[in-house]
Amino acid sequence: MLVAPVLLLLLVPFPPSSGAQLPNQGQAKDLPIATNGQPFPWDRMRLPKTISPLHYDLTIHPNLTTLDFTGVARIELDVHEDTSIIILHAKQMQISNVLLLAPEGIRPLHVLEYPHFHQLALLSDSVLTKGRKYEVQLEFAANLSDSYHGFYKSSYRTSSGEVRVMASTQFEATFARAAFPCFDEPAFKANFTIRIIREPRHIAISNMPKVKTVELPGGLLEDHFDTTIKMSTYLVAYIVSDFLSVSKTTQHGVKISVYAVPEKINQTAYALDAAVKLLDFYDNYYDIPYQLPKHDLAAIPDFQAGAMENWGLSTYRETGLLFDPDRSSASDKLGITKVIAHELAHQWFGNLVTMEWWNDLWLKEGFAKFMEYISLDISYPELHVDDFFLGKCFDAMEVDSLSSSHPVSTPVENPMQIQEMFDDVSYDKGACILNMLRDFLTPEAFEIGIIQYLKRYSYQNTVNDLDEGRLKHREFCAKRNLPSGASSDDELDVRAIMDTWTLQEGFPLVTVEVRGREVRLSQERYLKTDDPSLTEGFLWQIPLTYMTSTSNTIQRFLLKTKTDILYLPEEVDWVKFNVDMSGYYMVHYAGEGWNSIIRLLQHNHTALSGNDRANLIHNVFQLVSIGKVRLDTALELSLYLSRETEIMAVTQGFGELVPLYKLMEKRDMAALENQMKVSKDSSLKTCINKMCKNLWTDSGSVSERVLRSYLLLFACVRNYAPCVTKATQLFNKWKDSDGTLSLPVDITMAVFVIGARTPEGWDFLFEKYRHSMQMSVKSRMKTAMTVTSLQDKLTWCVHLASYGEVMKTQDLPGVVVSVSKNPHGYKLAWDFLRANWHTLIKKFDLGSSTISHMVTQVTNQYSTREMLDEVRSFFGSLTEETGSEMRCIQQTYETIEDNIRWMDTNLPLAVLRQEVMHFLSM
Ligand code: BES
Ligand code: ZN
Repeated sequence: MLVAPVLLLLLVPFPPSSGAQLPNQGQAKDLPIATNGQPFPWDRMRLPKTISPLHYDLTIHPNLTTLDFTGVARIELDVHEDTSIIILHAKQMQISNVLLLAPEGIRPLHVLEYPHFHQLALLSDSVLTKGRKYEVQLEFAANLSDSYHGFYKSSYRTSSGEVRVMASTQFEATFARAAFPCFDEPAFKANFTIRIIREPRHIAISNMPKVKTVELPGGLLEDHFDTTIKMSTYLVAYIVSDFLSVSKTTQHGVKISVYAVPEKINQTAYALDAAVKLLDFYDNYYDIPYQLPKHDLAAIPDFQAGAMENWGLSTYRETGLLFDPDRSSASDKLGITKVIAHELAHQWFGNLVTMEWWNDLWLKEGFAKFMEYISLDISYPELHVDDFFLGKCFDAMEVDSLSSSHPVSTPVENPMQIQEMFDDVSYDKGACILNMLRDFLTPEAFEIGIIQYLKRYSYQNTVNDLDEGRLKHREFCAKRNLPSGASSDDELDVRAIMDTWTLQEGFPLVTVEVRGREVRLSQERYLKTDDPSLTEGFLWQIPLTYMTSTSNTIQRFLLKTKTDILYLPEEVDWVKFNVDMSGYYMVHYAGEGWNSIIRLLQHNHTALSGNDRANLIHNVFQLVSIGKVRLDTALELSLYLSRETEIMAVTQGFGELVPLYKLMEKRDMAALENQMKVSKDSSLKTCINKMCKNLWTDSGSVSERVLRSYLLLFACVRNYAPCVTKATQLFNKWKDSDGTLSLPVDITMAVFVIGARTPEGWDFLFEKYRHSMQMSVKSRMKTAMTVTSLQDKLTWCVHLASYGEVMKTQDLPGVVVSVSKNPHGYKLAWDFLRANWHTLIKKFDLGSSTISHMVTQVTNQYSTREMLDEVRSFFGSLTEETGSEMRCIQQTYETIEDNIRWMDTNLPLAVLRQEVMHFLSM
């Protein structure tokens, strides 16, 4: 079939570019050439808006023996402009028998393929006219993917050793196109009617309930699923497996089922109850009923991310869903509840209301992360999820303080850039700025805003704009008692406030100086760099909160200018800003400020909340990094930690001090270890001894339990003799019982870590790991095996995970990171990463958070110029195709440079050694 060249060109929006623009900027260098040598009539990565899909009829037939699939897609089209060309996505599949079903009859279409942009062009010899309904039908075939996205193969081993194969989908962000031809952009919402062909020994599940099963000639069965409501392609899902399920119905009449491999179905009760409770919570909170008649949650044996929110069928890692009341820990429970809360929050935020494009990913991921905390706070008060929220702000600030950070809302075009959006900025910063907004507006006003937003944009797509209907200033002033300096406008412009947080990268450092009743405020960008020019031109509208020695009522002040002054009603001994760290900013207490806080912590630390204390520890150490505060001051502040019992303050304290120790450890290990041995007393010891009464049990609140496991593990790793002795005894008892003795859950990690120190202990643990069906126990055993100092075992672990037989390849990134944190393994991890780079990016995909996380975590403790050179030399050798453009590489360079600077400034300080040693040594 011939298409007039002029017609082809009509669809190309601009003349072929000069070649200055790279393909990753979304436009082909030259007029693209299709695989058959003909010109391809579209030169952009984004699809044209001339045609959109209305309805997909999909029939998919996976063959779990030959590990491939075939399918037929029939797509009903809406033609917005006359055209004879249909551009859509397809990736790595054979396309055949492409037909146009037009009102005038059925005609074949000519197909051009442009794999570089994953695009197909279907060329018609007649014009498709605006407003008339057409359908295209395509047949396709492909292999089941060997990675973790698209329509991919998963397998597991039964306790009798039989390997069973299944197939599952993961389409977000750009992988639906690898499973069926489609318009694979989030704004092209359509209805989907799905049919799956399977063998009778399997079941099939999908987004919607099954309406019927038809027997096909040859003994195969075809399941027909109900038509979905309008949704984006990335949310489509189907699974063919031998899963079993358990079900319950929510108060609102939605049927919830949890699916898992048969031998693990007895670990699904917790997830089922949690999903029922949380879906009911959201139904009420959002004041919009869940849109589908059912929701399935499936635990997939091979899964790259943590979970995925497919509409009506969310998918999870087994460790993210399966809970054994006798063997899972307090933090497992917290983790599972949070993941479910996250994916269910997406059923509204993301599924019902979707971002127009991936640049605004935070609109769903930031919200879902934030809703994890809101929903658990209300539905699971006993989990005290509030104790952990500020950890998200710390994580976000870590990447957001580098010049390689990016605004929450950032332009992206190609699949790698899209993948990279799934980072701590979209998730954690997104959640933190929402939390700040909620705190500023009041929870009630915020909830009303959310409901309005969801109702207004249901089934549609949105861009970065939260200000639906300007909020009246006076109402808020009255509610919040804002000082008059808060705003001079008549209206409180939420949009203007939020724009400063979503469109600018980074976050402010607010410097506070108290002089009598006067508090001088100034803001600047907090940035870990030598180059001051990079901090210029940033200005935020910061909803400040503070309390003082004379009033613990929260005071508020909206700082909109670079500097400002606020007046206190009386002189005070101390002032603490960013109360409970509900704001996304750092505070530097200039003048006598830090000293007054240090005095307060030393004499009466409970005058401030645990979150405030954790916030101060974080801020003071971050200020050391940029030379605003001397390390002695930070260490002096942390001395009060021997009296600290709140989880975030303890873990933050350790979190700041341990890396210091590690940085030094890399410089001269022997000298340090000697110092560690001599030291007699330490803050950690005091902490542990305080918990001693119930140290080896599972008692207490969730935070207490999480803290106990943390401290015990820490103590064992750091060789605290009483803990090591006890853990050794327990490990031996457990080993003598052939693993049948049931240990208190929260201490098993520490016990396994001690056991894995000897070759025999390690081998025993490995044997138990091999055969265990308890996911959380397995995961603790796996971690313990990577914490050992036995080099050959570490190498073996990495090989095992690469091979994927006994230890799944999905766990390889975690193993590599864990080995890299081990003083005996960091070199091994780095060498492995370099040597296997190409395999890793193929399996886990360029730009994925799995890859970025591995890159940054394996290298973030390096602090020498030699290591920086080595890291630069490796990443510098990559090409665009192998990842040279990834943001994590810049983050890595910046982090190592920052470490080097830190060492140069602080290492000479003798005080560092004494104080850090004092704190950490046993
Ligand atoms: N939508 C994501 C899953 C996802 C992640 C898809 C990356 C494509 C790329 C899902 O809702 C999610 O955010 N999952 C988190 C877990 C959650 C509890 C934060 C994940 O997988 O880490
Ligand atoms: Zn999410």
